[in-house]
Amino acid sequence: LTGAITLDPGYKNSGSCKSAITFLDGEEGVLRYRGYSIEDLAEKSNFLEVAYLVIFGELPTQTQIEKFENDIRKHTLVNEEMKGIIDGFPKHAHPMGILASLTCALTAFNPKVVNAECEKDMYEAVCKIMGKFLVVATWTYRKINGYPLNYYDNTMPYVDNFLQLMFKLPTGPYKVNPVVLNAIDKLFILHADHEQNCSTSTVRMVGSSHAGLFASISAGVSALWGPLHGGANQAVLEMLEEIQKDGGDANKYLAKAKDKNDPFRLMGFGHRVYKNFDPRARIIKKAADEVLAELGVDDPILKIAKDLEEMALKDEYFVARNLYPNVDFYSGIIYRALGIPTEMFTVMFAIGRLPGWVAQWKEMRVNKEPIGRPRQVYVGEPLRPFKEMNER
Ligand code: SDX
Repeated sequence: LTGAITLDPGYKNSGSCKSAITFLDGEEGVLRYRGYSIEDLAEKSNFLEVAYLVIFGELPTQTQIEKFENDIRKHTLVNEEMKGIIDGFPKHAHPMGILASLTCALTAFNPKVVNAECEKDMYEAVCKIMGKFLVVATWTYRKINGYPLNYYDNTMPYVDNFLQLMFKLPTGPYKVNPVVLNAIDKLFILHADHEQNCSTSTVRMVGSSHAGLFASISAGVSALWGPLHGGANQAVLEMLEEIQKDGGDANKYLAKAKDKNDPFRLMGFGHRVYKNFDPRARIIKKAADEVLAELGVDDPILKIAKDLEEMALKDEYFVARNLYPNVDFYSGIIYRALGIPTEMFTVMFAIGRLPGWVAQWKEMRVNKEPIGRPRQVYVGEPLRPFKEMNER
């Protein structure tokens, strides 16, 4: 599992890269952040610690994590003029579109160019985006529901603040259910990084032109939005709800997913790299069972998901193509049980993935990676003489 990978000499242009952040083995279903297994981190750590690990390379000491949390608190106020941008969106706007816009807009209010090679500068930029991104991400939910925007409470821990920012009413603090809090913290850990996936590669590519951190992260949000990537967690729930509405016949949808003439795909199944079980899906499935039991939620959608999974894992088409449930298959079910609205599922993914995006952007800049410039295989017309209008 630790065999060195030989990069082709052209790798500098191909968009692939060397990274010391996340190791995954798609055949063995192994995922590690900075050498620590995802199973250990999900079980024994918490999201802010994992964010520190992913970004700075080591699990923090008690002093370091307290300093990190306090330094984030220095940057949790978002410029009030940002509200003018939010007011400009229609209520039916998708939260991911609002988030991509607000993240890029943060550049206008934080114009200082990040000198990634200066540790102090980079550390301040990390704390700033960790604070402000969480706030604007929850503002997307408040906006589409017409609720007043909440402010970060510097007396509360980071993930508790997510719940306050999302659900706190003017009447007083939101009552946090420890089961919900623990599940959300674990979900954020499981999403923290995943080597060179579509959105992370986008962040590295945009950042390689020395575009700013906020602009690069905004590009990552846009890439994550797609239903083939982070948008799949919302698409899974919409698919399960459609199956439920259609009488709960999972078999019918399995057949659709196998029909070459039908564009329908089983959302939450398959992966560019994992040709085995996605280790995160295993952990989330177990957490979903525990959370629904502890919350006393009997969600028929969960039964449909389990039927679908059971059938697909025995189905020749899926087995032959190594199609297993991925991180998005169960995450939507647990988010729904936790009271997170469907349209916010991919924003949840973005909040969890932020530390990975930041870590990869930092690594790319500190390593002075060249500007990303993938090449192509040209398959177009050979040289040909110009045609005058009357010859066309
Ligand atoms: C994420 O890269 C990452 O790390 C991403 C991610 C992260 O943490 O950042 O892990 C998060 O994006 C997870 C993936 C979420 N997406 C979905 O669940 C959408 C549904 N999945 C598919 O769209 C698909 O599986 C992909 C996009 C995820 C992967 O596509 P691949 O590897 O390019 O697979 P493929 O298109 O080459 O398919 C191989 C075969 C094809 O059939 P044949 O042409 O060989 O006959 O498998 C079929 C595909 O049609 N296939 C599916 C399928 N996925 C692939 N058939 C039905 N349902 C599916 N979901």
